[in-house]
Amino acid sequence: MITQIIAHRGSKGVRPENTIVAFNKAIDEGADGIETDVHLSKDGKLVIIHDETVNRTTDGEGRIFDKTLAEIKKLDAGAYFSEKYVNERIPTLQEVVDLLIQRKYHGIFNLELKTDKIKYPGIEQKVYEVLKGEDFPFHLVYSSFNPKSISVLHQLQPEVEAASLFKINTKAARRFSRRRIIQEWHPSIAWVRSHRFFLPHVQLRPWTVNSEDDIKYCFKKNFKGIITDYPTRALKIRKKM
Ligand code: G3P
Ligand code: CA
Repeated sequence: MITQIIAHRGSKGVRPENTIVAFNKAIDEGADGIETDVHLSKDGKLVIIHDETVNRTTDGEGRIFDKTLAEIKKLDAGAYFSEKYVNERIPTLQEVVDLLIQRKYHGIFNLELKTDKIKYPGIEQKVYEVLKGEDFPFHLVYSSFNPKSISVLHQLQPEVEAASLFKINTKAARRFSRRRIIQEWHPSIAWVRSHRFFLPHVQLRPWTVNSEDDIKYCFKKNFKGIITDYPTRALKIRKKM
């Protein structure tokens, strides 16, 4: 089994995270998958950003949940990374899906529901409305740190692969594995490294696997995948192994 290389927030290491240029870069690099994060705006629109606030990655301030999509779309989401990317915008989930369709992307689309800090009402149903079709070119994988989101999505789309995200606590991941709700775990690489002698018998896709040492370790262990900010680096290493 070849270990999948999944671009974290697009190719976050070389492009402004979670923007259209980042997703295009991941596709151009040949990443086997793309990971991204979804939140809900004040007017109920699904938007692609990592943090609960726009403070770190845009020229604005405040929570996504307190802003309308029109307000969010005014923000610059590229300049924080480099002036080369001035005018990048925060995309909606629909815009990212449209891009993947347009690029005929056959890799994994790993959508993380960011419901661990804010319990966005009805976000799972809204995500389902966008992704319930069956003829997408990509392979959909849901993930979340919030077990309730995984559970709701599993009820809506039992056929879609789902993964438990966690940093340390494996309680929910173990419970969901037993109930066959999730197919794999997406743990932090730190957790994997500290459990190297007693890893569970589930498929793993650790994050964020960036150093050469960690990348090689995951390839040698034949993990199902890695989630990395640097797909090109990982692809080069995989080619040589
Ligand atoms: O999905 C893996 C990883 O993205 C989880 O952590 O904080 O980068 O969303 P974070
Ligand atoms: Ca994520």
